[in-house]
Amino acid sequence: MTEGWTQSAFEALARVLGARAGLVFAPIRRADAEAGIRRAMARARITDVDHYLALVETGAITLDDLIDELTVRETYFFRDPAHFDLIRREVIPDVLRRRLGGAGLRLWSAGCASGEEAYSLAIVIENAGLAARTSILGTDISRAALIRARAATYGKWSLRGVDAEVVQRYFHHAQGRHRLDERIVERVAFEFLNLACDSYPSPPVWGMDLIICRNVLMYLDPRVIPCIARRLHATLAPDGWLLTGPSDPPLGDEAPFETIVGASGLHYRRAVARGRVFVELRGPLPSSPVTIEPGPSPAPTPPAEPLAEARAAFADGEWDRVARLTSNIAGAEAARLRIRALANSAGSEVAERALAHELELHPLSAELHFLHAILLQDLGRDGEAVHAVKRALYLDASLAIAHFVLGSILGRLGEVEAARRAYRNARVLADRRPPREALALGEGERAGELVLAVAAELARLGTHTQTEASA
Ligand SMILES: C[S@@+](CC[C@H](N)C(=O)[O-])C[C@H]1O[C@@H](n2cnc3c(N)ncnc32)[C@H](O)[C@@H]1O
Repeated sequence: MTEGWTQSAFEALARVLGARAGLVFAPIRRADAEAGIRRAMARARITDVDHYLALVETGAITLDDLIDELTVRETYFFRDPAHFDLIRREVIPDVLRRRLGGAGLRLWSAGCASGEEAYSLAIVIENAGLAARTSILGTDISRAALIRARAATYGKWSLRGVDAEVVQRYFHHAQGRHRLDERIVERVAFEFLNLACDSYPSPPVWGMDLIICRNVLMYLDPRVIPCIARRLHATLAPDGWLLTGPSDPPLGDEAPFETIVGASGLHYRRAVARGRVFVELRGPLPSSPVTIEPGPSPAPTPPAEPLAEARAAFADGEWDRVARLTSNIAGAEAARLRIRALANSAGSEVAERALAHELELHPLSAELHFLHAILLQDLGRDGEAVHAVKRALYLDASLAIAHFVLGSILGRLGEVEAARRAYRNARVLADRRPPREALALGEGERAGELVLAVAAELARLGTHTQTEASA
């Protein structure tokens, strides 16, 4: 079997896939990858690979078809049963122990392929009697896989890991296929998300109690892994869990995870002592060539304006450098960067103490009061967090994200009516912005996404009160 590309255009196409999806093709997979590209070309009725490359590069042809051809989408229900045992026995009880006021559970299957993994979670949740208070999200880069996931109809092969009793209980057999019961199907939402290039955390991908991202990162360029690890970490709720697959790269050194070595492999948690991780979301990750060989050193970049340099250092996760670069810059924005970097390196407690000093210097900074609220809620000091976020809103009532955060804290405190009001304020403000506009003080959240997140939270508060009323 050939290990190289037969024409440079194939290599260039693979490079585009690396840059836009993080995919990497080891020499051993190149012949298969070429065959996949040829199939996509045949569907587009194009025979010349250079012409196909030109169309992909100019956007005349979307990458979707190529991505569907070139991603490995093998999956099945309850794949790696030890993980599901862990979820039943440890993850769910742990998350419930930490929940105050009956707040909902949030689970995410990242790289869900045709949905089997996300639906397996939904079955576990249904069996645990937690369906009404749990939201489950499945995301993938393959739109074809997402269509299959939403269709929720599977062949025998997808059910090879499932007990006959579960099949009997949750599937309807018709014409040789198995249709998942509607009550499980409706528990899972599926969305497109490119783990390598999209911005997250960002509604609906935020505050997850459990992320299960298995057998995905192993196909991605090692150079995009650290940034994905930081984003996954930032997407976890405090104390949330992340499970990866046995062949996925280890993430313990890439973000401040607590790594747990269990019978079912490595698991990660966002330890509460380290608190929130702030991320700077500045668009796609650096483009990633296909072969990973040491190249010439990059040309030196011209010196940047100090605050811009600090922002860039923050985006690269260089927390100590952020501290150095901002130490001589006055102003609330530098202080905010400094404190967020400190939270990421030393934890929320240390950062909150340092922020008290900054607030004395910048008492009229809405952004610092808002940051204070975020740190306080990470430390479980919700009562104080409400005051901090209200101070931020007193100084700048237009901060949609701050209204949203106020809503979620009030919801946790059981102040349902006030929470609803805060969420509605967030929606009114976000609605006024173009849907794709990133919101001020967010971690990449866009206006349209906040509107959706508000709808989900209002629906959840509605269900919760009805349940309380009928109890
Ligand atoms: C082998 S499947 C894993 C399915 C499931 N997680 C499991 O373990 O059974 C890998 C999935 O990762 C998806 N994927 C690959 N690159 C991705 C990216 N950059 N962003 C999101 N999903 C990606 C593929 O489309 C595919 O559906």
